[in-house]
Amino acid sequence: MTTTAWTTLLDTACAPYRAAGMFAWRFARGKLGMDPVFRYLIEQGHIRPGARVLDIGCGQGLLASLLASSGQLARQGQWPAAWPPAPAPERVTGIELMPRDVERARAALAQLGDTAQFVCGDMRTTAFPAVDAVVILDVLHYIGIDEQNQVLARVRAALPPGGLLLLRVGDASARRGFAISQWVDAVVTRIRGHRVLPQYGRTLAQWSAQLQQLGFDVQSQPMSAGTPFANVLLIAKVTP
Ligand SMILES: C[S@@+](CC[C@H](N)C(=O)[O-])C[C@H]1O[C@@H](n2cnc3c(N)ncnc32)[C@H](O)[C@@H]1O
Repeated sequence: MTTTAWTTLLDTACAPYRAAGMFAWRFARGKLGMDPVFRYLIEQGHIRPGARVLDIGCGQGLLASLLASSGQLARQGQWPAAWPPAPAPERVTGIELMPRDVERARAALAQLGDTAQFVCGDMRTTAFPAVDAVVILDVLHYIGIDEQNQVLARVRAALPPGGLLLLRVGDASARRGFAISQWVDAVVTRIRGHRVLPQYGRTLAQWSAQLQQLGFDVQSQPMSAGTPFANVLLIAKVTP
């Protein structure tokens, strides 16, 4: 039942990308279908319905489409009872450095109106709105450690007590998986026509300590099933 529902959700979330071209649609299908984090987020219910969500390094806005589609399926009575409530957001703000990704997000998701906004900007300098949940998936390693800390401090300031940060990072202590993810990241970056820049990693213990220092309660969940990577999802809540 839930597998059928996941397939329906996937189809619904990918469909708008046809308006942004074949590449955008294929990319959406591949990423949403193969990256375990998206189904995990739906099945675990970490993002509550009606949340204001900030997606930093949002690419072409896949998370926004997935969350909005959850609301669509719930309204159509197609949301499985076995899942937590559909995390249809009040609004999603995406921040993304690459103009082409922002163009694809806007072209695909224009029908969401004000509930999905995409800002073309650098997370190091773009203002963060006040939100209930921040999602950062595979993004922070592109900037230096001091800059990562500054972004995380600003994320903390954007969240209320009890607010949620979902942060996926590579665990640098798992050397082989971490090296593979760095290599794949560089190859994909080059294929997408971008300059390959140095990447900055930390161990899981270092990431957790940094978040705790900022006032988060932190749990971690391995998040690279089906891939050779050493990715971990940090589920961090602002201590109430
Ligand atoms: C590996 S992709 C992940 C995309 C998306 N979070 C996902 O999981 O599907 C990393 C994204 O972060 C963006 N990015 C890198 N540096 C950034 C920065 N300084 N500010 C904003 N976005 C950035 C990249 O352009 C890219 O779209």
